[in-house]
Amino acid sequence: MTSLRDDGPAALEWAARYLERVGELPVLAQVKPGEIRARLPTTAPEAGEPFSAVLRDLDEVLLPGITHWQHPRYFAYFATSSSEPAILAELLAATVNSVAILWRTAPASTELEGVVLDWVADLLGLPGGWHGHIEDTASTSTLTAIIAAREATGRDLIVTSEQAHSAADKAARMLGMRLRKVPCDDEFRMRPDQLGDLSEAAAVVATVGTTATTSVDPIPAIAEECAQAGTWLHVDAAYAGTAMVCPEHRWAFAGVDRADSLVVNAHKWMLTPVDCSLLWTRRPQDFRRAFSLIPEFLRTPDAEDSLSLSEYGPALGRRFRALKLWAVLRCFGRAGLQAHIRRGVELAGQFERWVTEEPGWEVCAPRRFSVICFRLEGPDERNRALLERVNASGEMFISQAVLDGRYVLRLAIGQMSTTEEDVRRAWEVLRREAG
Ligand SMILES: Cc1ncc(COP(=O)(O)O)c(C=O)c1O
Repeated sequence: MTSLRDDGPAALEWAARYLERVGELPVLAQVKPGEIRARLPTTAPEAGEPFSAVLRDLDEVLLPGITHWQHPRYFAYFATSSSEPAILAELLAATVNSVAILWRTAPASTELEGVVLDWVADLLGLPGGWHGHIEDTASTSTLTAIIAAREATGRDLIVTSEQAHSAADKAARMLGMRLRKVPCDDEFRMRPDQLGDLSEAAAVVATVGTTATTSVDPIPAIAEECAQAGTWLHVDAAYAGTAMVCPEHRWAFAGVDRADSLVVNAHKWMLTPVDCSLLWTRRPQDFRRAFSLIPEFLRTPDAEDSLSLSEYGPALGRRFRALKLWAVLRCFGRAGLQAHIRRGVELAGQFERWVTEEPGWEVCAPRRFSVICFRLEGPDERNRALLERVNASGEMFISQAVLDGRYVLRLAIGQMSTTEEDVRRAWEVLRREAG
């Protein structure tokens, strides 16, 4: 039998050792598709095994198949950090195993969720009084907001930019709604003069920190067009939203106070492990109309005076995600979050300077936060091959984008353990493999 007292220390030791040595492991898993599955038994064991066997196979079987998002040279997609307070809080949340289907099944989880969303709203400079709750991912948050927008407007068109995240496209497809893509300017920002007729639009999805370049759409102008057309404005700040904890980045949130809904992923830059996507709205009643469905077995006498967050989104059973975010906010504070953001932005600036100063390389988009889009001068094929080589080296992991029809490399800083030495090494690996 597994017991927390007997097996817990070994599991905690594994976690602590992992974080100490992750920087020595190859960032990108060096396995072929199917390789991990082939190493695992095809059926579950008949009799229970000791937990030590699970830990052993985590090392021997699974570890080679893990791409290390916690690696200091993880620079692909948007880096994310699982900080130690949040890791411990995840353990405790799983221990309590609160399921917030209704307020009375999880009063503390429900009320803490409201409190931490208020705290983060305050940290990011959002207006007071918005309703906030947690969804699993930004994809779900955006889907949820679009459903509320459709409910509120009775319309079936989603308008977004050609640089927006594919979550908007996916939501349109799942909901059977129409989608219109607005062109961008030469800095990859949505062009408000190209929004077109919004009279049939349920929602405009604008982005603060687009996925490829982290460009910032001109929210004030878009908000004005939405207000005139009676169209819902959803702002996707999944990555960049956390940066608003620093006053020097707040320019990017100008006009967001006029949004109908907003998503920021705590599981991107806010030191919180996946999944934890923060969704706010100033129109909670539209969410409630879209999602509230209380069958007889869920009726409770306290419903009048209490808030059940399952009435504001797709899921009935909601886990205690607020606990890990609460732990992060308390253990880092505003100052700790600011320091984390500033370090990432500073390192990105450093990397950008090296690329700019090196003949034969170019920066391909204005850098707004901690992501640099760059390339070797010359054909796409050269850059594609370079990306494959640096990722295969195991020393670092980057991703790519296509901008203005050209293939570019994309280095995203955000992992809390990344140092200047790691960024310098990444630049050395890139130059070595390019040569
Ligand atoms: C701007 C933006 N929106 C949404 C998403 C989707 O996030 P999630 O994986 O939480 O669904 C991403 C993912 O990187 C993103 O960059």
